[in-house]
Amino acid sequence: MQARLPHPVPYQGSKRTLAPRIGVHAPRDIDVWFEPFAGSAAMTLWALEAQVARRYVIADVLAPIAGLWRLIIDAPVATAERYGEIWRGQKPSDRDYFNAVRARYNAHGDPVDLLYLICRCVKNAVRFNAAGQFTQSVDRRRLGMRPERMMAAIAAASQLMRGRTEVRSGDWLATTADAGRRDFVYLDPPYLGTTVGRDRRYVRQLQQADLIEGIEALLARGVRFMLSYDGMTGAKSYGAPLPEALGLTRLLLEAGTSAQATLSGRAERTLESLYLSPGLRPPCAPCSALRELGGPSS
Ligand SMILES: C[S@@+](CC[C@H](N)C(=O)[O-])C[C@H]1O[C@@H](n2cnc3c(N)ncnc32)[C@H](O)[C@@H]1O
Repeated sequence: MQARLPHPVPYQGSKRTLAPRIGVHAPRDIDVWFEPFAGSAAMTLWALEAQVARRYVIADVLAPIAGLWRLIIDAPVATAERYGEIWRGQKPSDRDYFNAVRARYNAHGDPVDLLYLICRCVKNAVRFNAAGQFTQSVDRRRLGMRPERMMAAIAAASQLMRGRTEVRSGDWLATTADAGRRDFVYLDPPYLGTTVGRDRRYVRQLQQADLIEGIEALLARGVRFMLSYDGMTGAKSYGAPLPEALGLTRLLLEAGTSAQATLSGRAERTLESLYLSPGLRPPCAPCSALRELGGPSS
């Protein structure tokens, strides 16, 4: 059982709570662990704590997120202090303050401004427009993570990551290009439904065809990997399942009950797919049971 893991970047959709149940399927003989859609890097923090690899690479196409991780790892105290300064500058009723930080971030891309925006925006759910500008509004009911808590989370993350973790910025195909047979890649790309159209959660769109091409490249190089992708809440599915021809094992993990459904009086389970590359260890007993419950798998 792992101690409570640090979580300095409270991204909505973070894999923090699912991490141990995803991680149980990862091999333990990894040379380099890659997380190319890092966001809050929840799985890498888990992997560092579990010591499953010799080295770790985290990466994201959003350069300020990559920059934020570099600051967290290399300059934890200065980064936490700067967050504290920004956080203390706000007044509970002053909505303009958030908008001013947002405008400053959109002009200069400062990673610590982004951290404040993530902590203080509606449901910690980042939103970007087509030009890559942060568009999410302030959450008026919460002030965002308190500076003391942030300081502790940043210090603990830095301690886990320092000297063992490389941070890259760019498209996942480029940032995993050197992954080989002894390595392992954990993929958590944006769901198609959240990246295409008007309401775009993440800064970059990723079409399923591009994802499949990238997976084929990993398979051809013999790289072991796991992929969190589609899922379902109640009877509603999100994301199209991946083609069976890829030869991946699909597990369904219970990811909790949907807050939306609970609000409307329905208790609906959310299930998330986890695809394993060929040769990864067979599913544990509870997951197999879920797999049968959840329907087809390849
Ligand atoms: C679903 S989130 C990952 C969340 C992460 N697993 C966590 O625990 O917080 C997807 C992330 O992928 C990034 N992203 C989107 N398209 C990308 C691409 N083509 N290459 C690399 N990163 C990408 C987004 O900026 C976002 O941070």
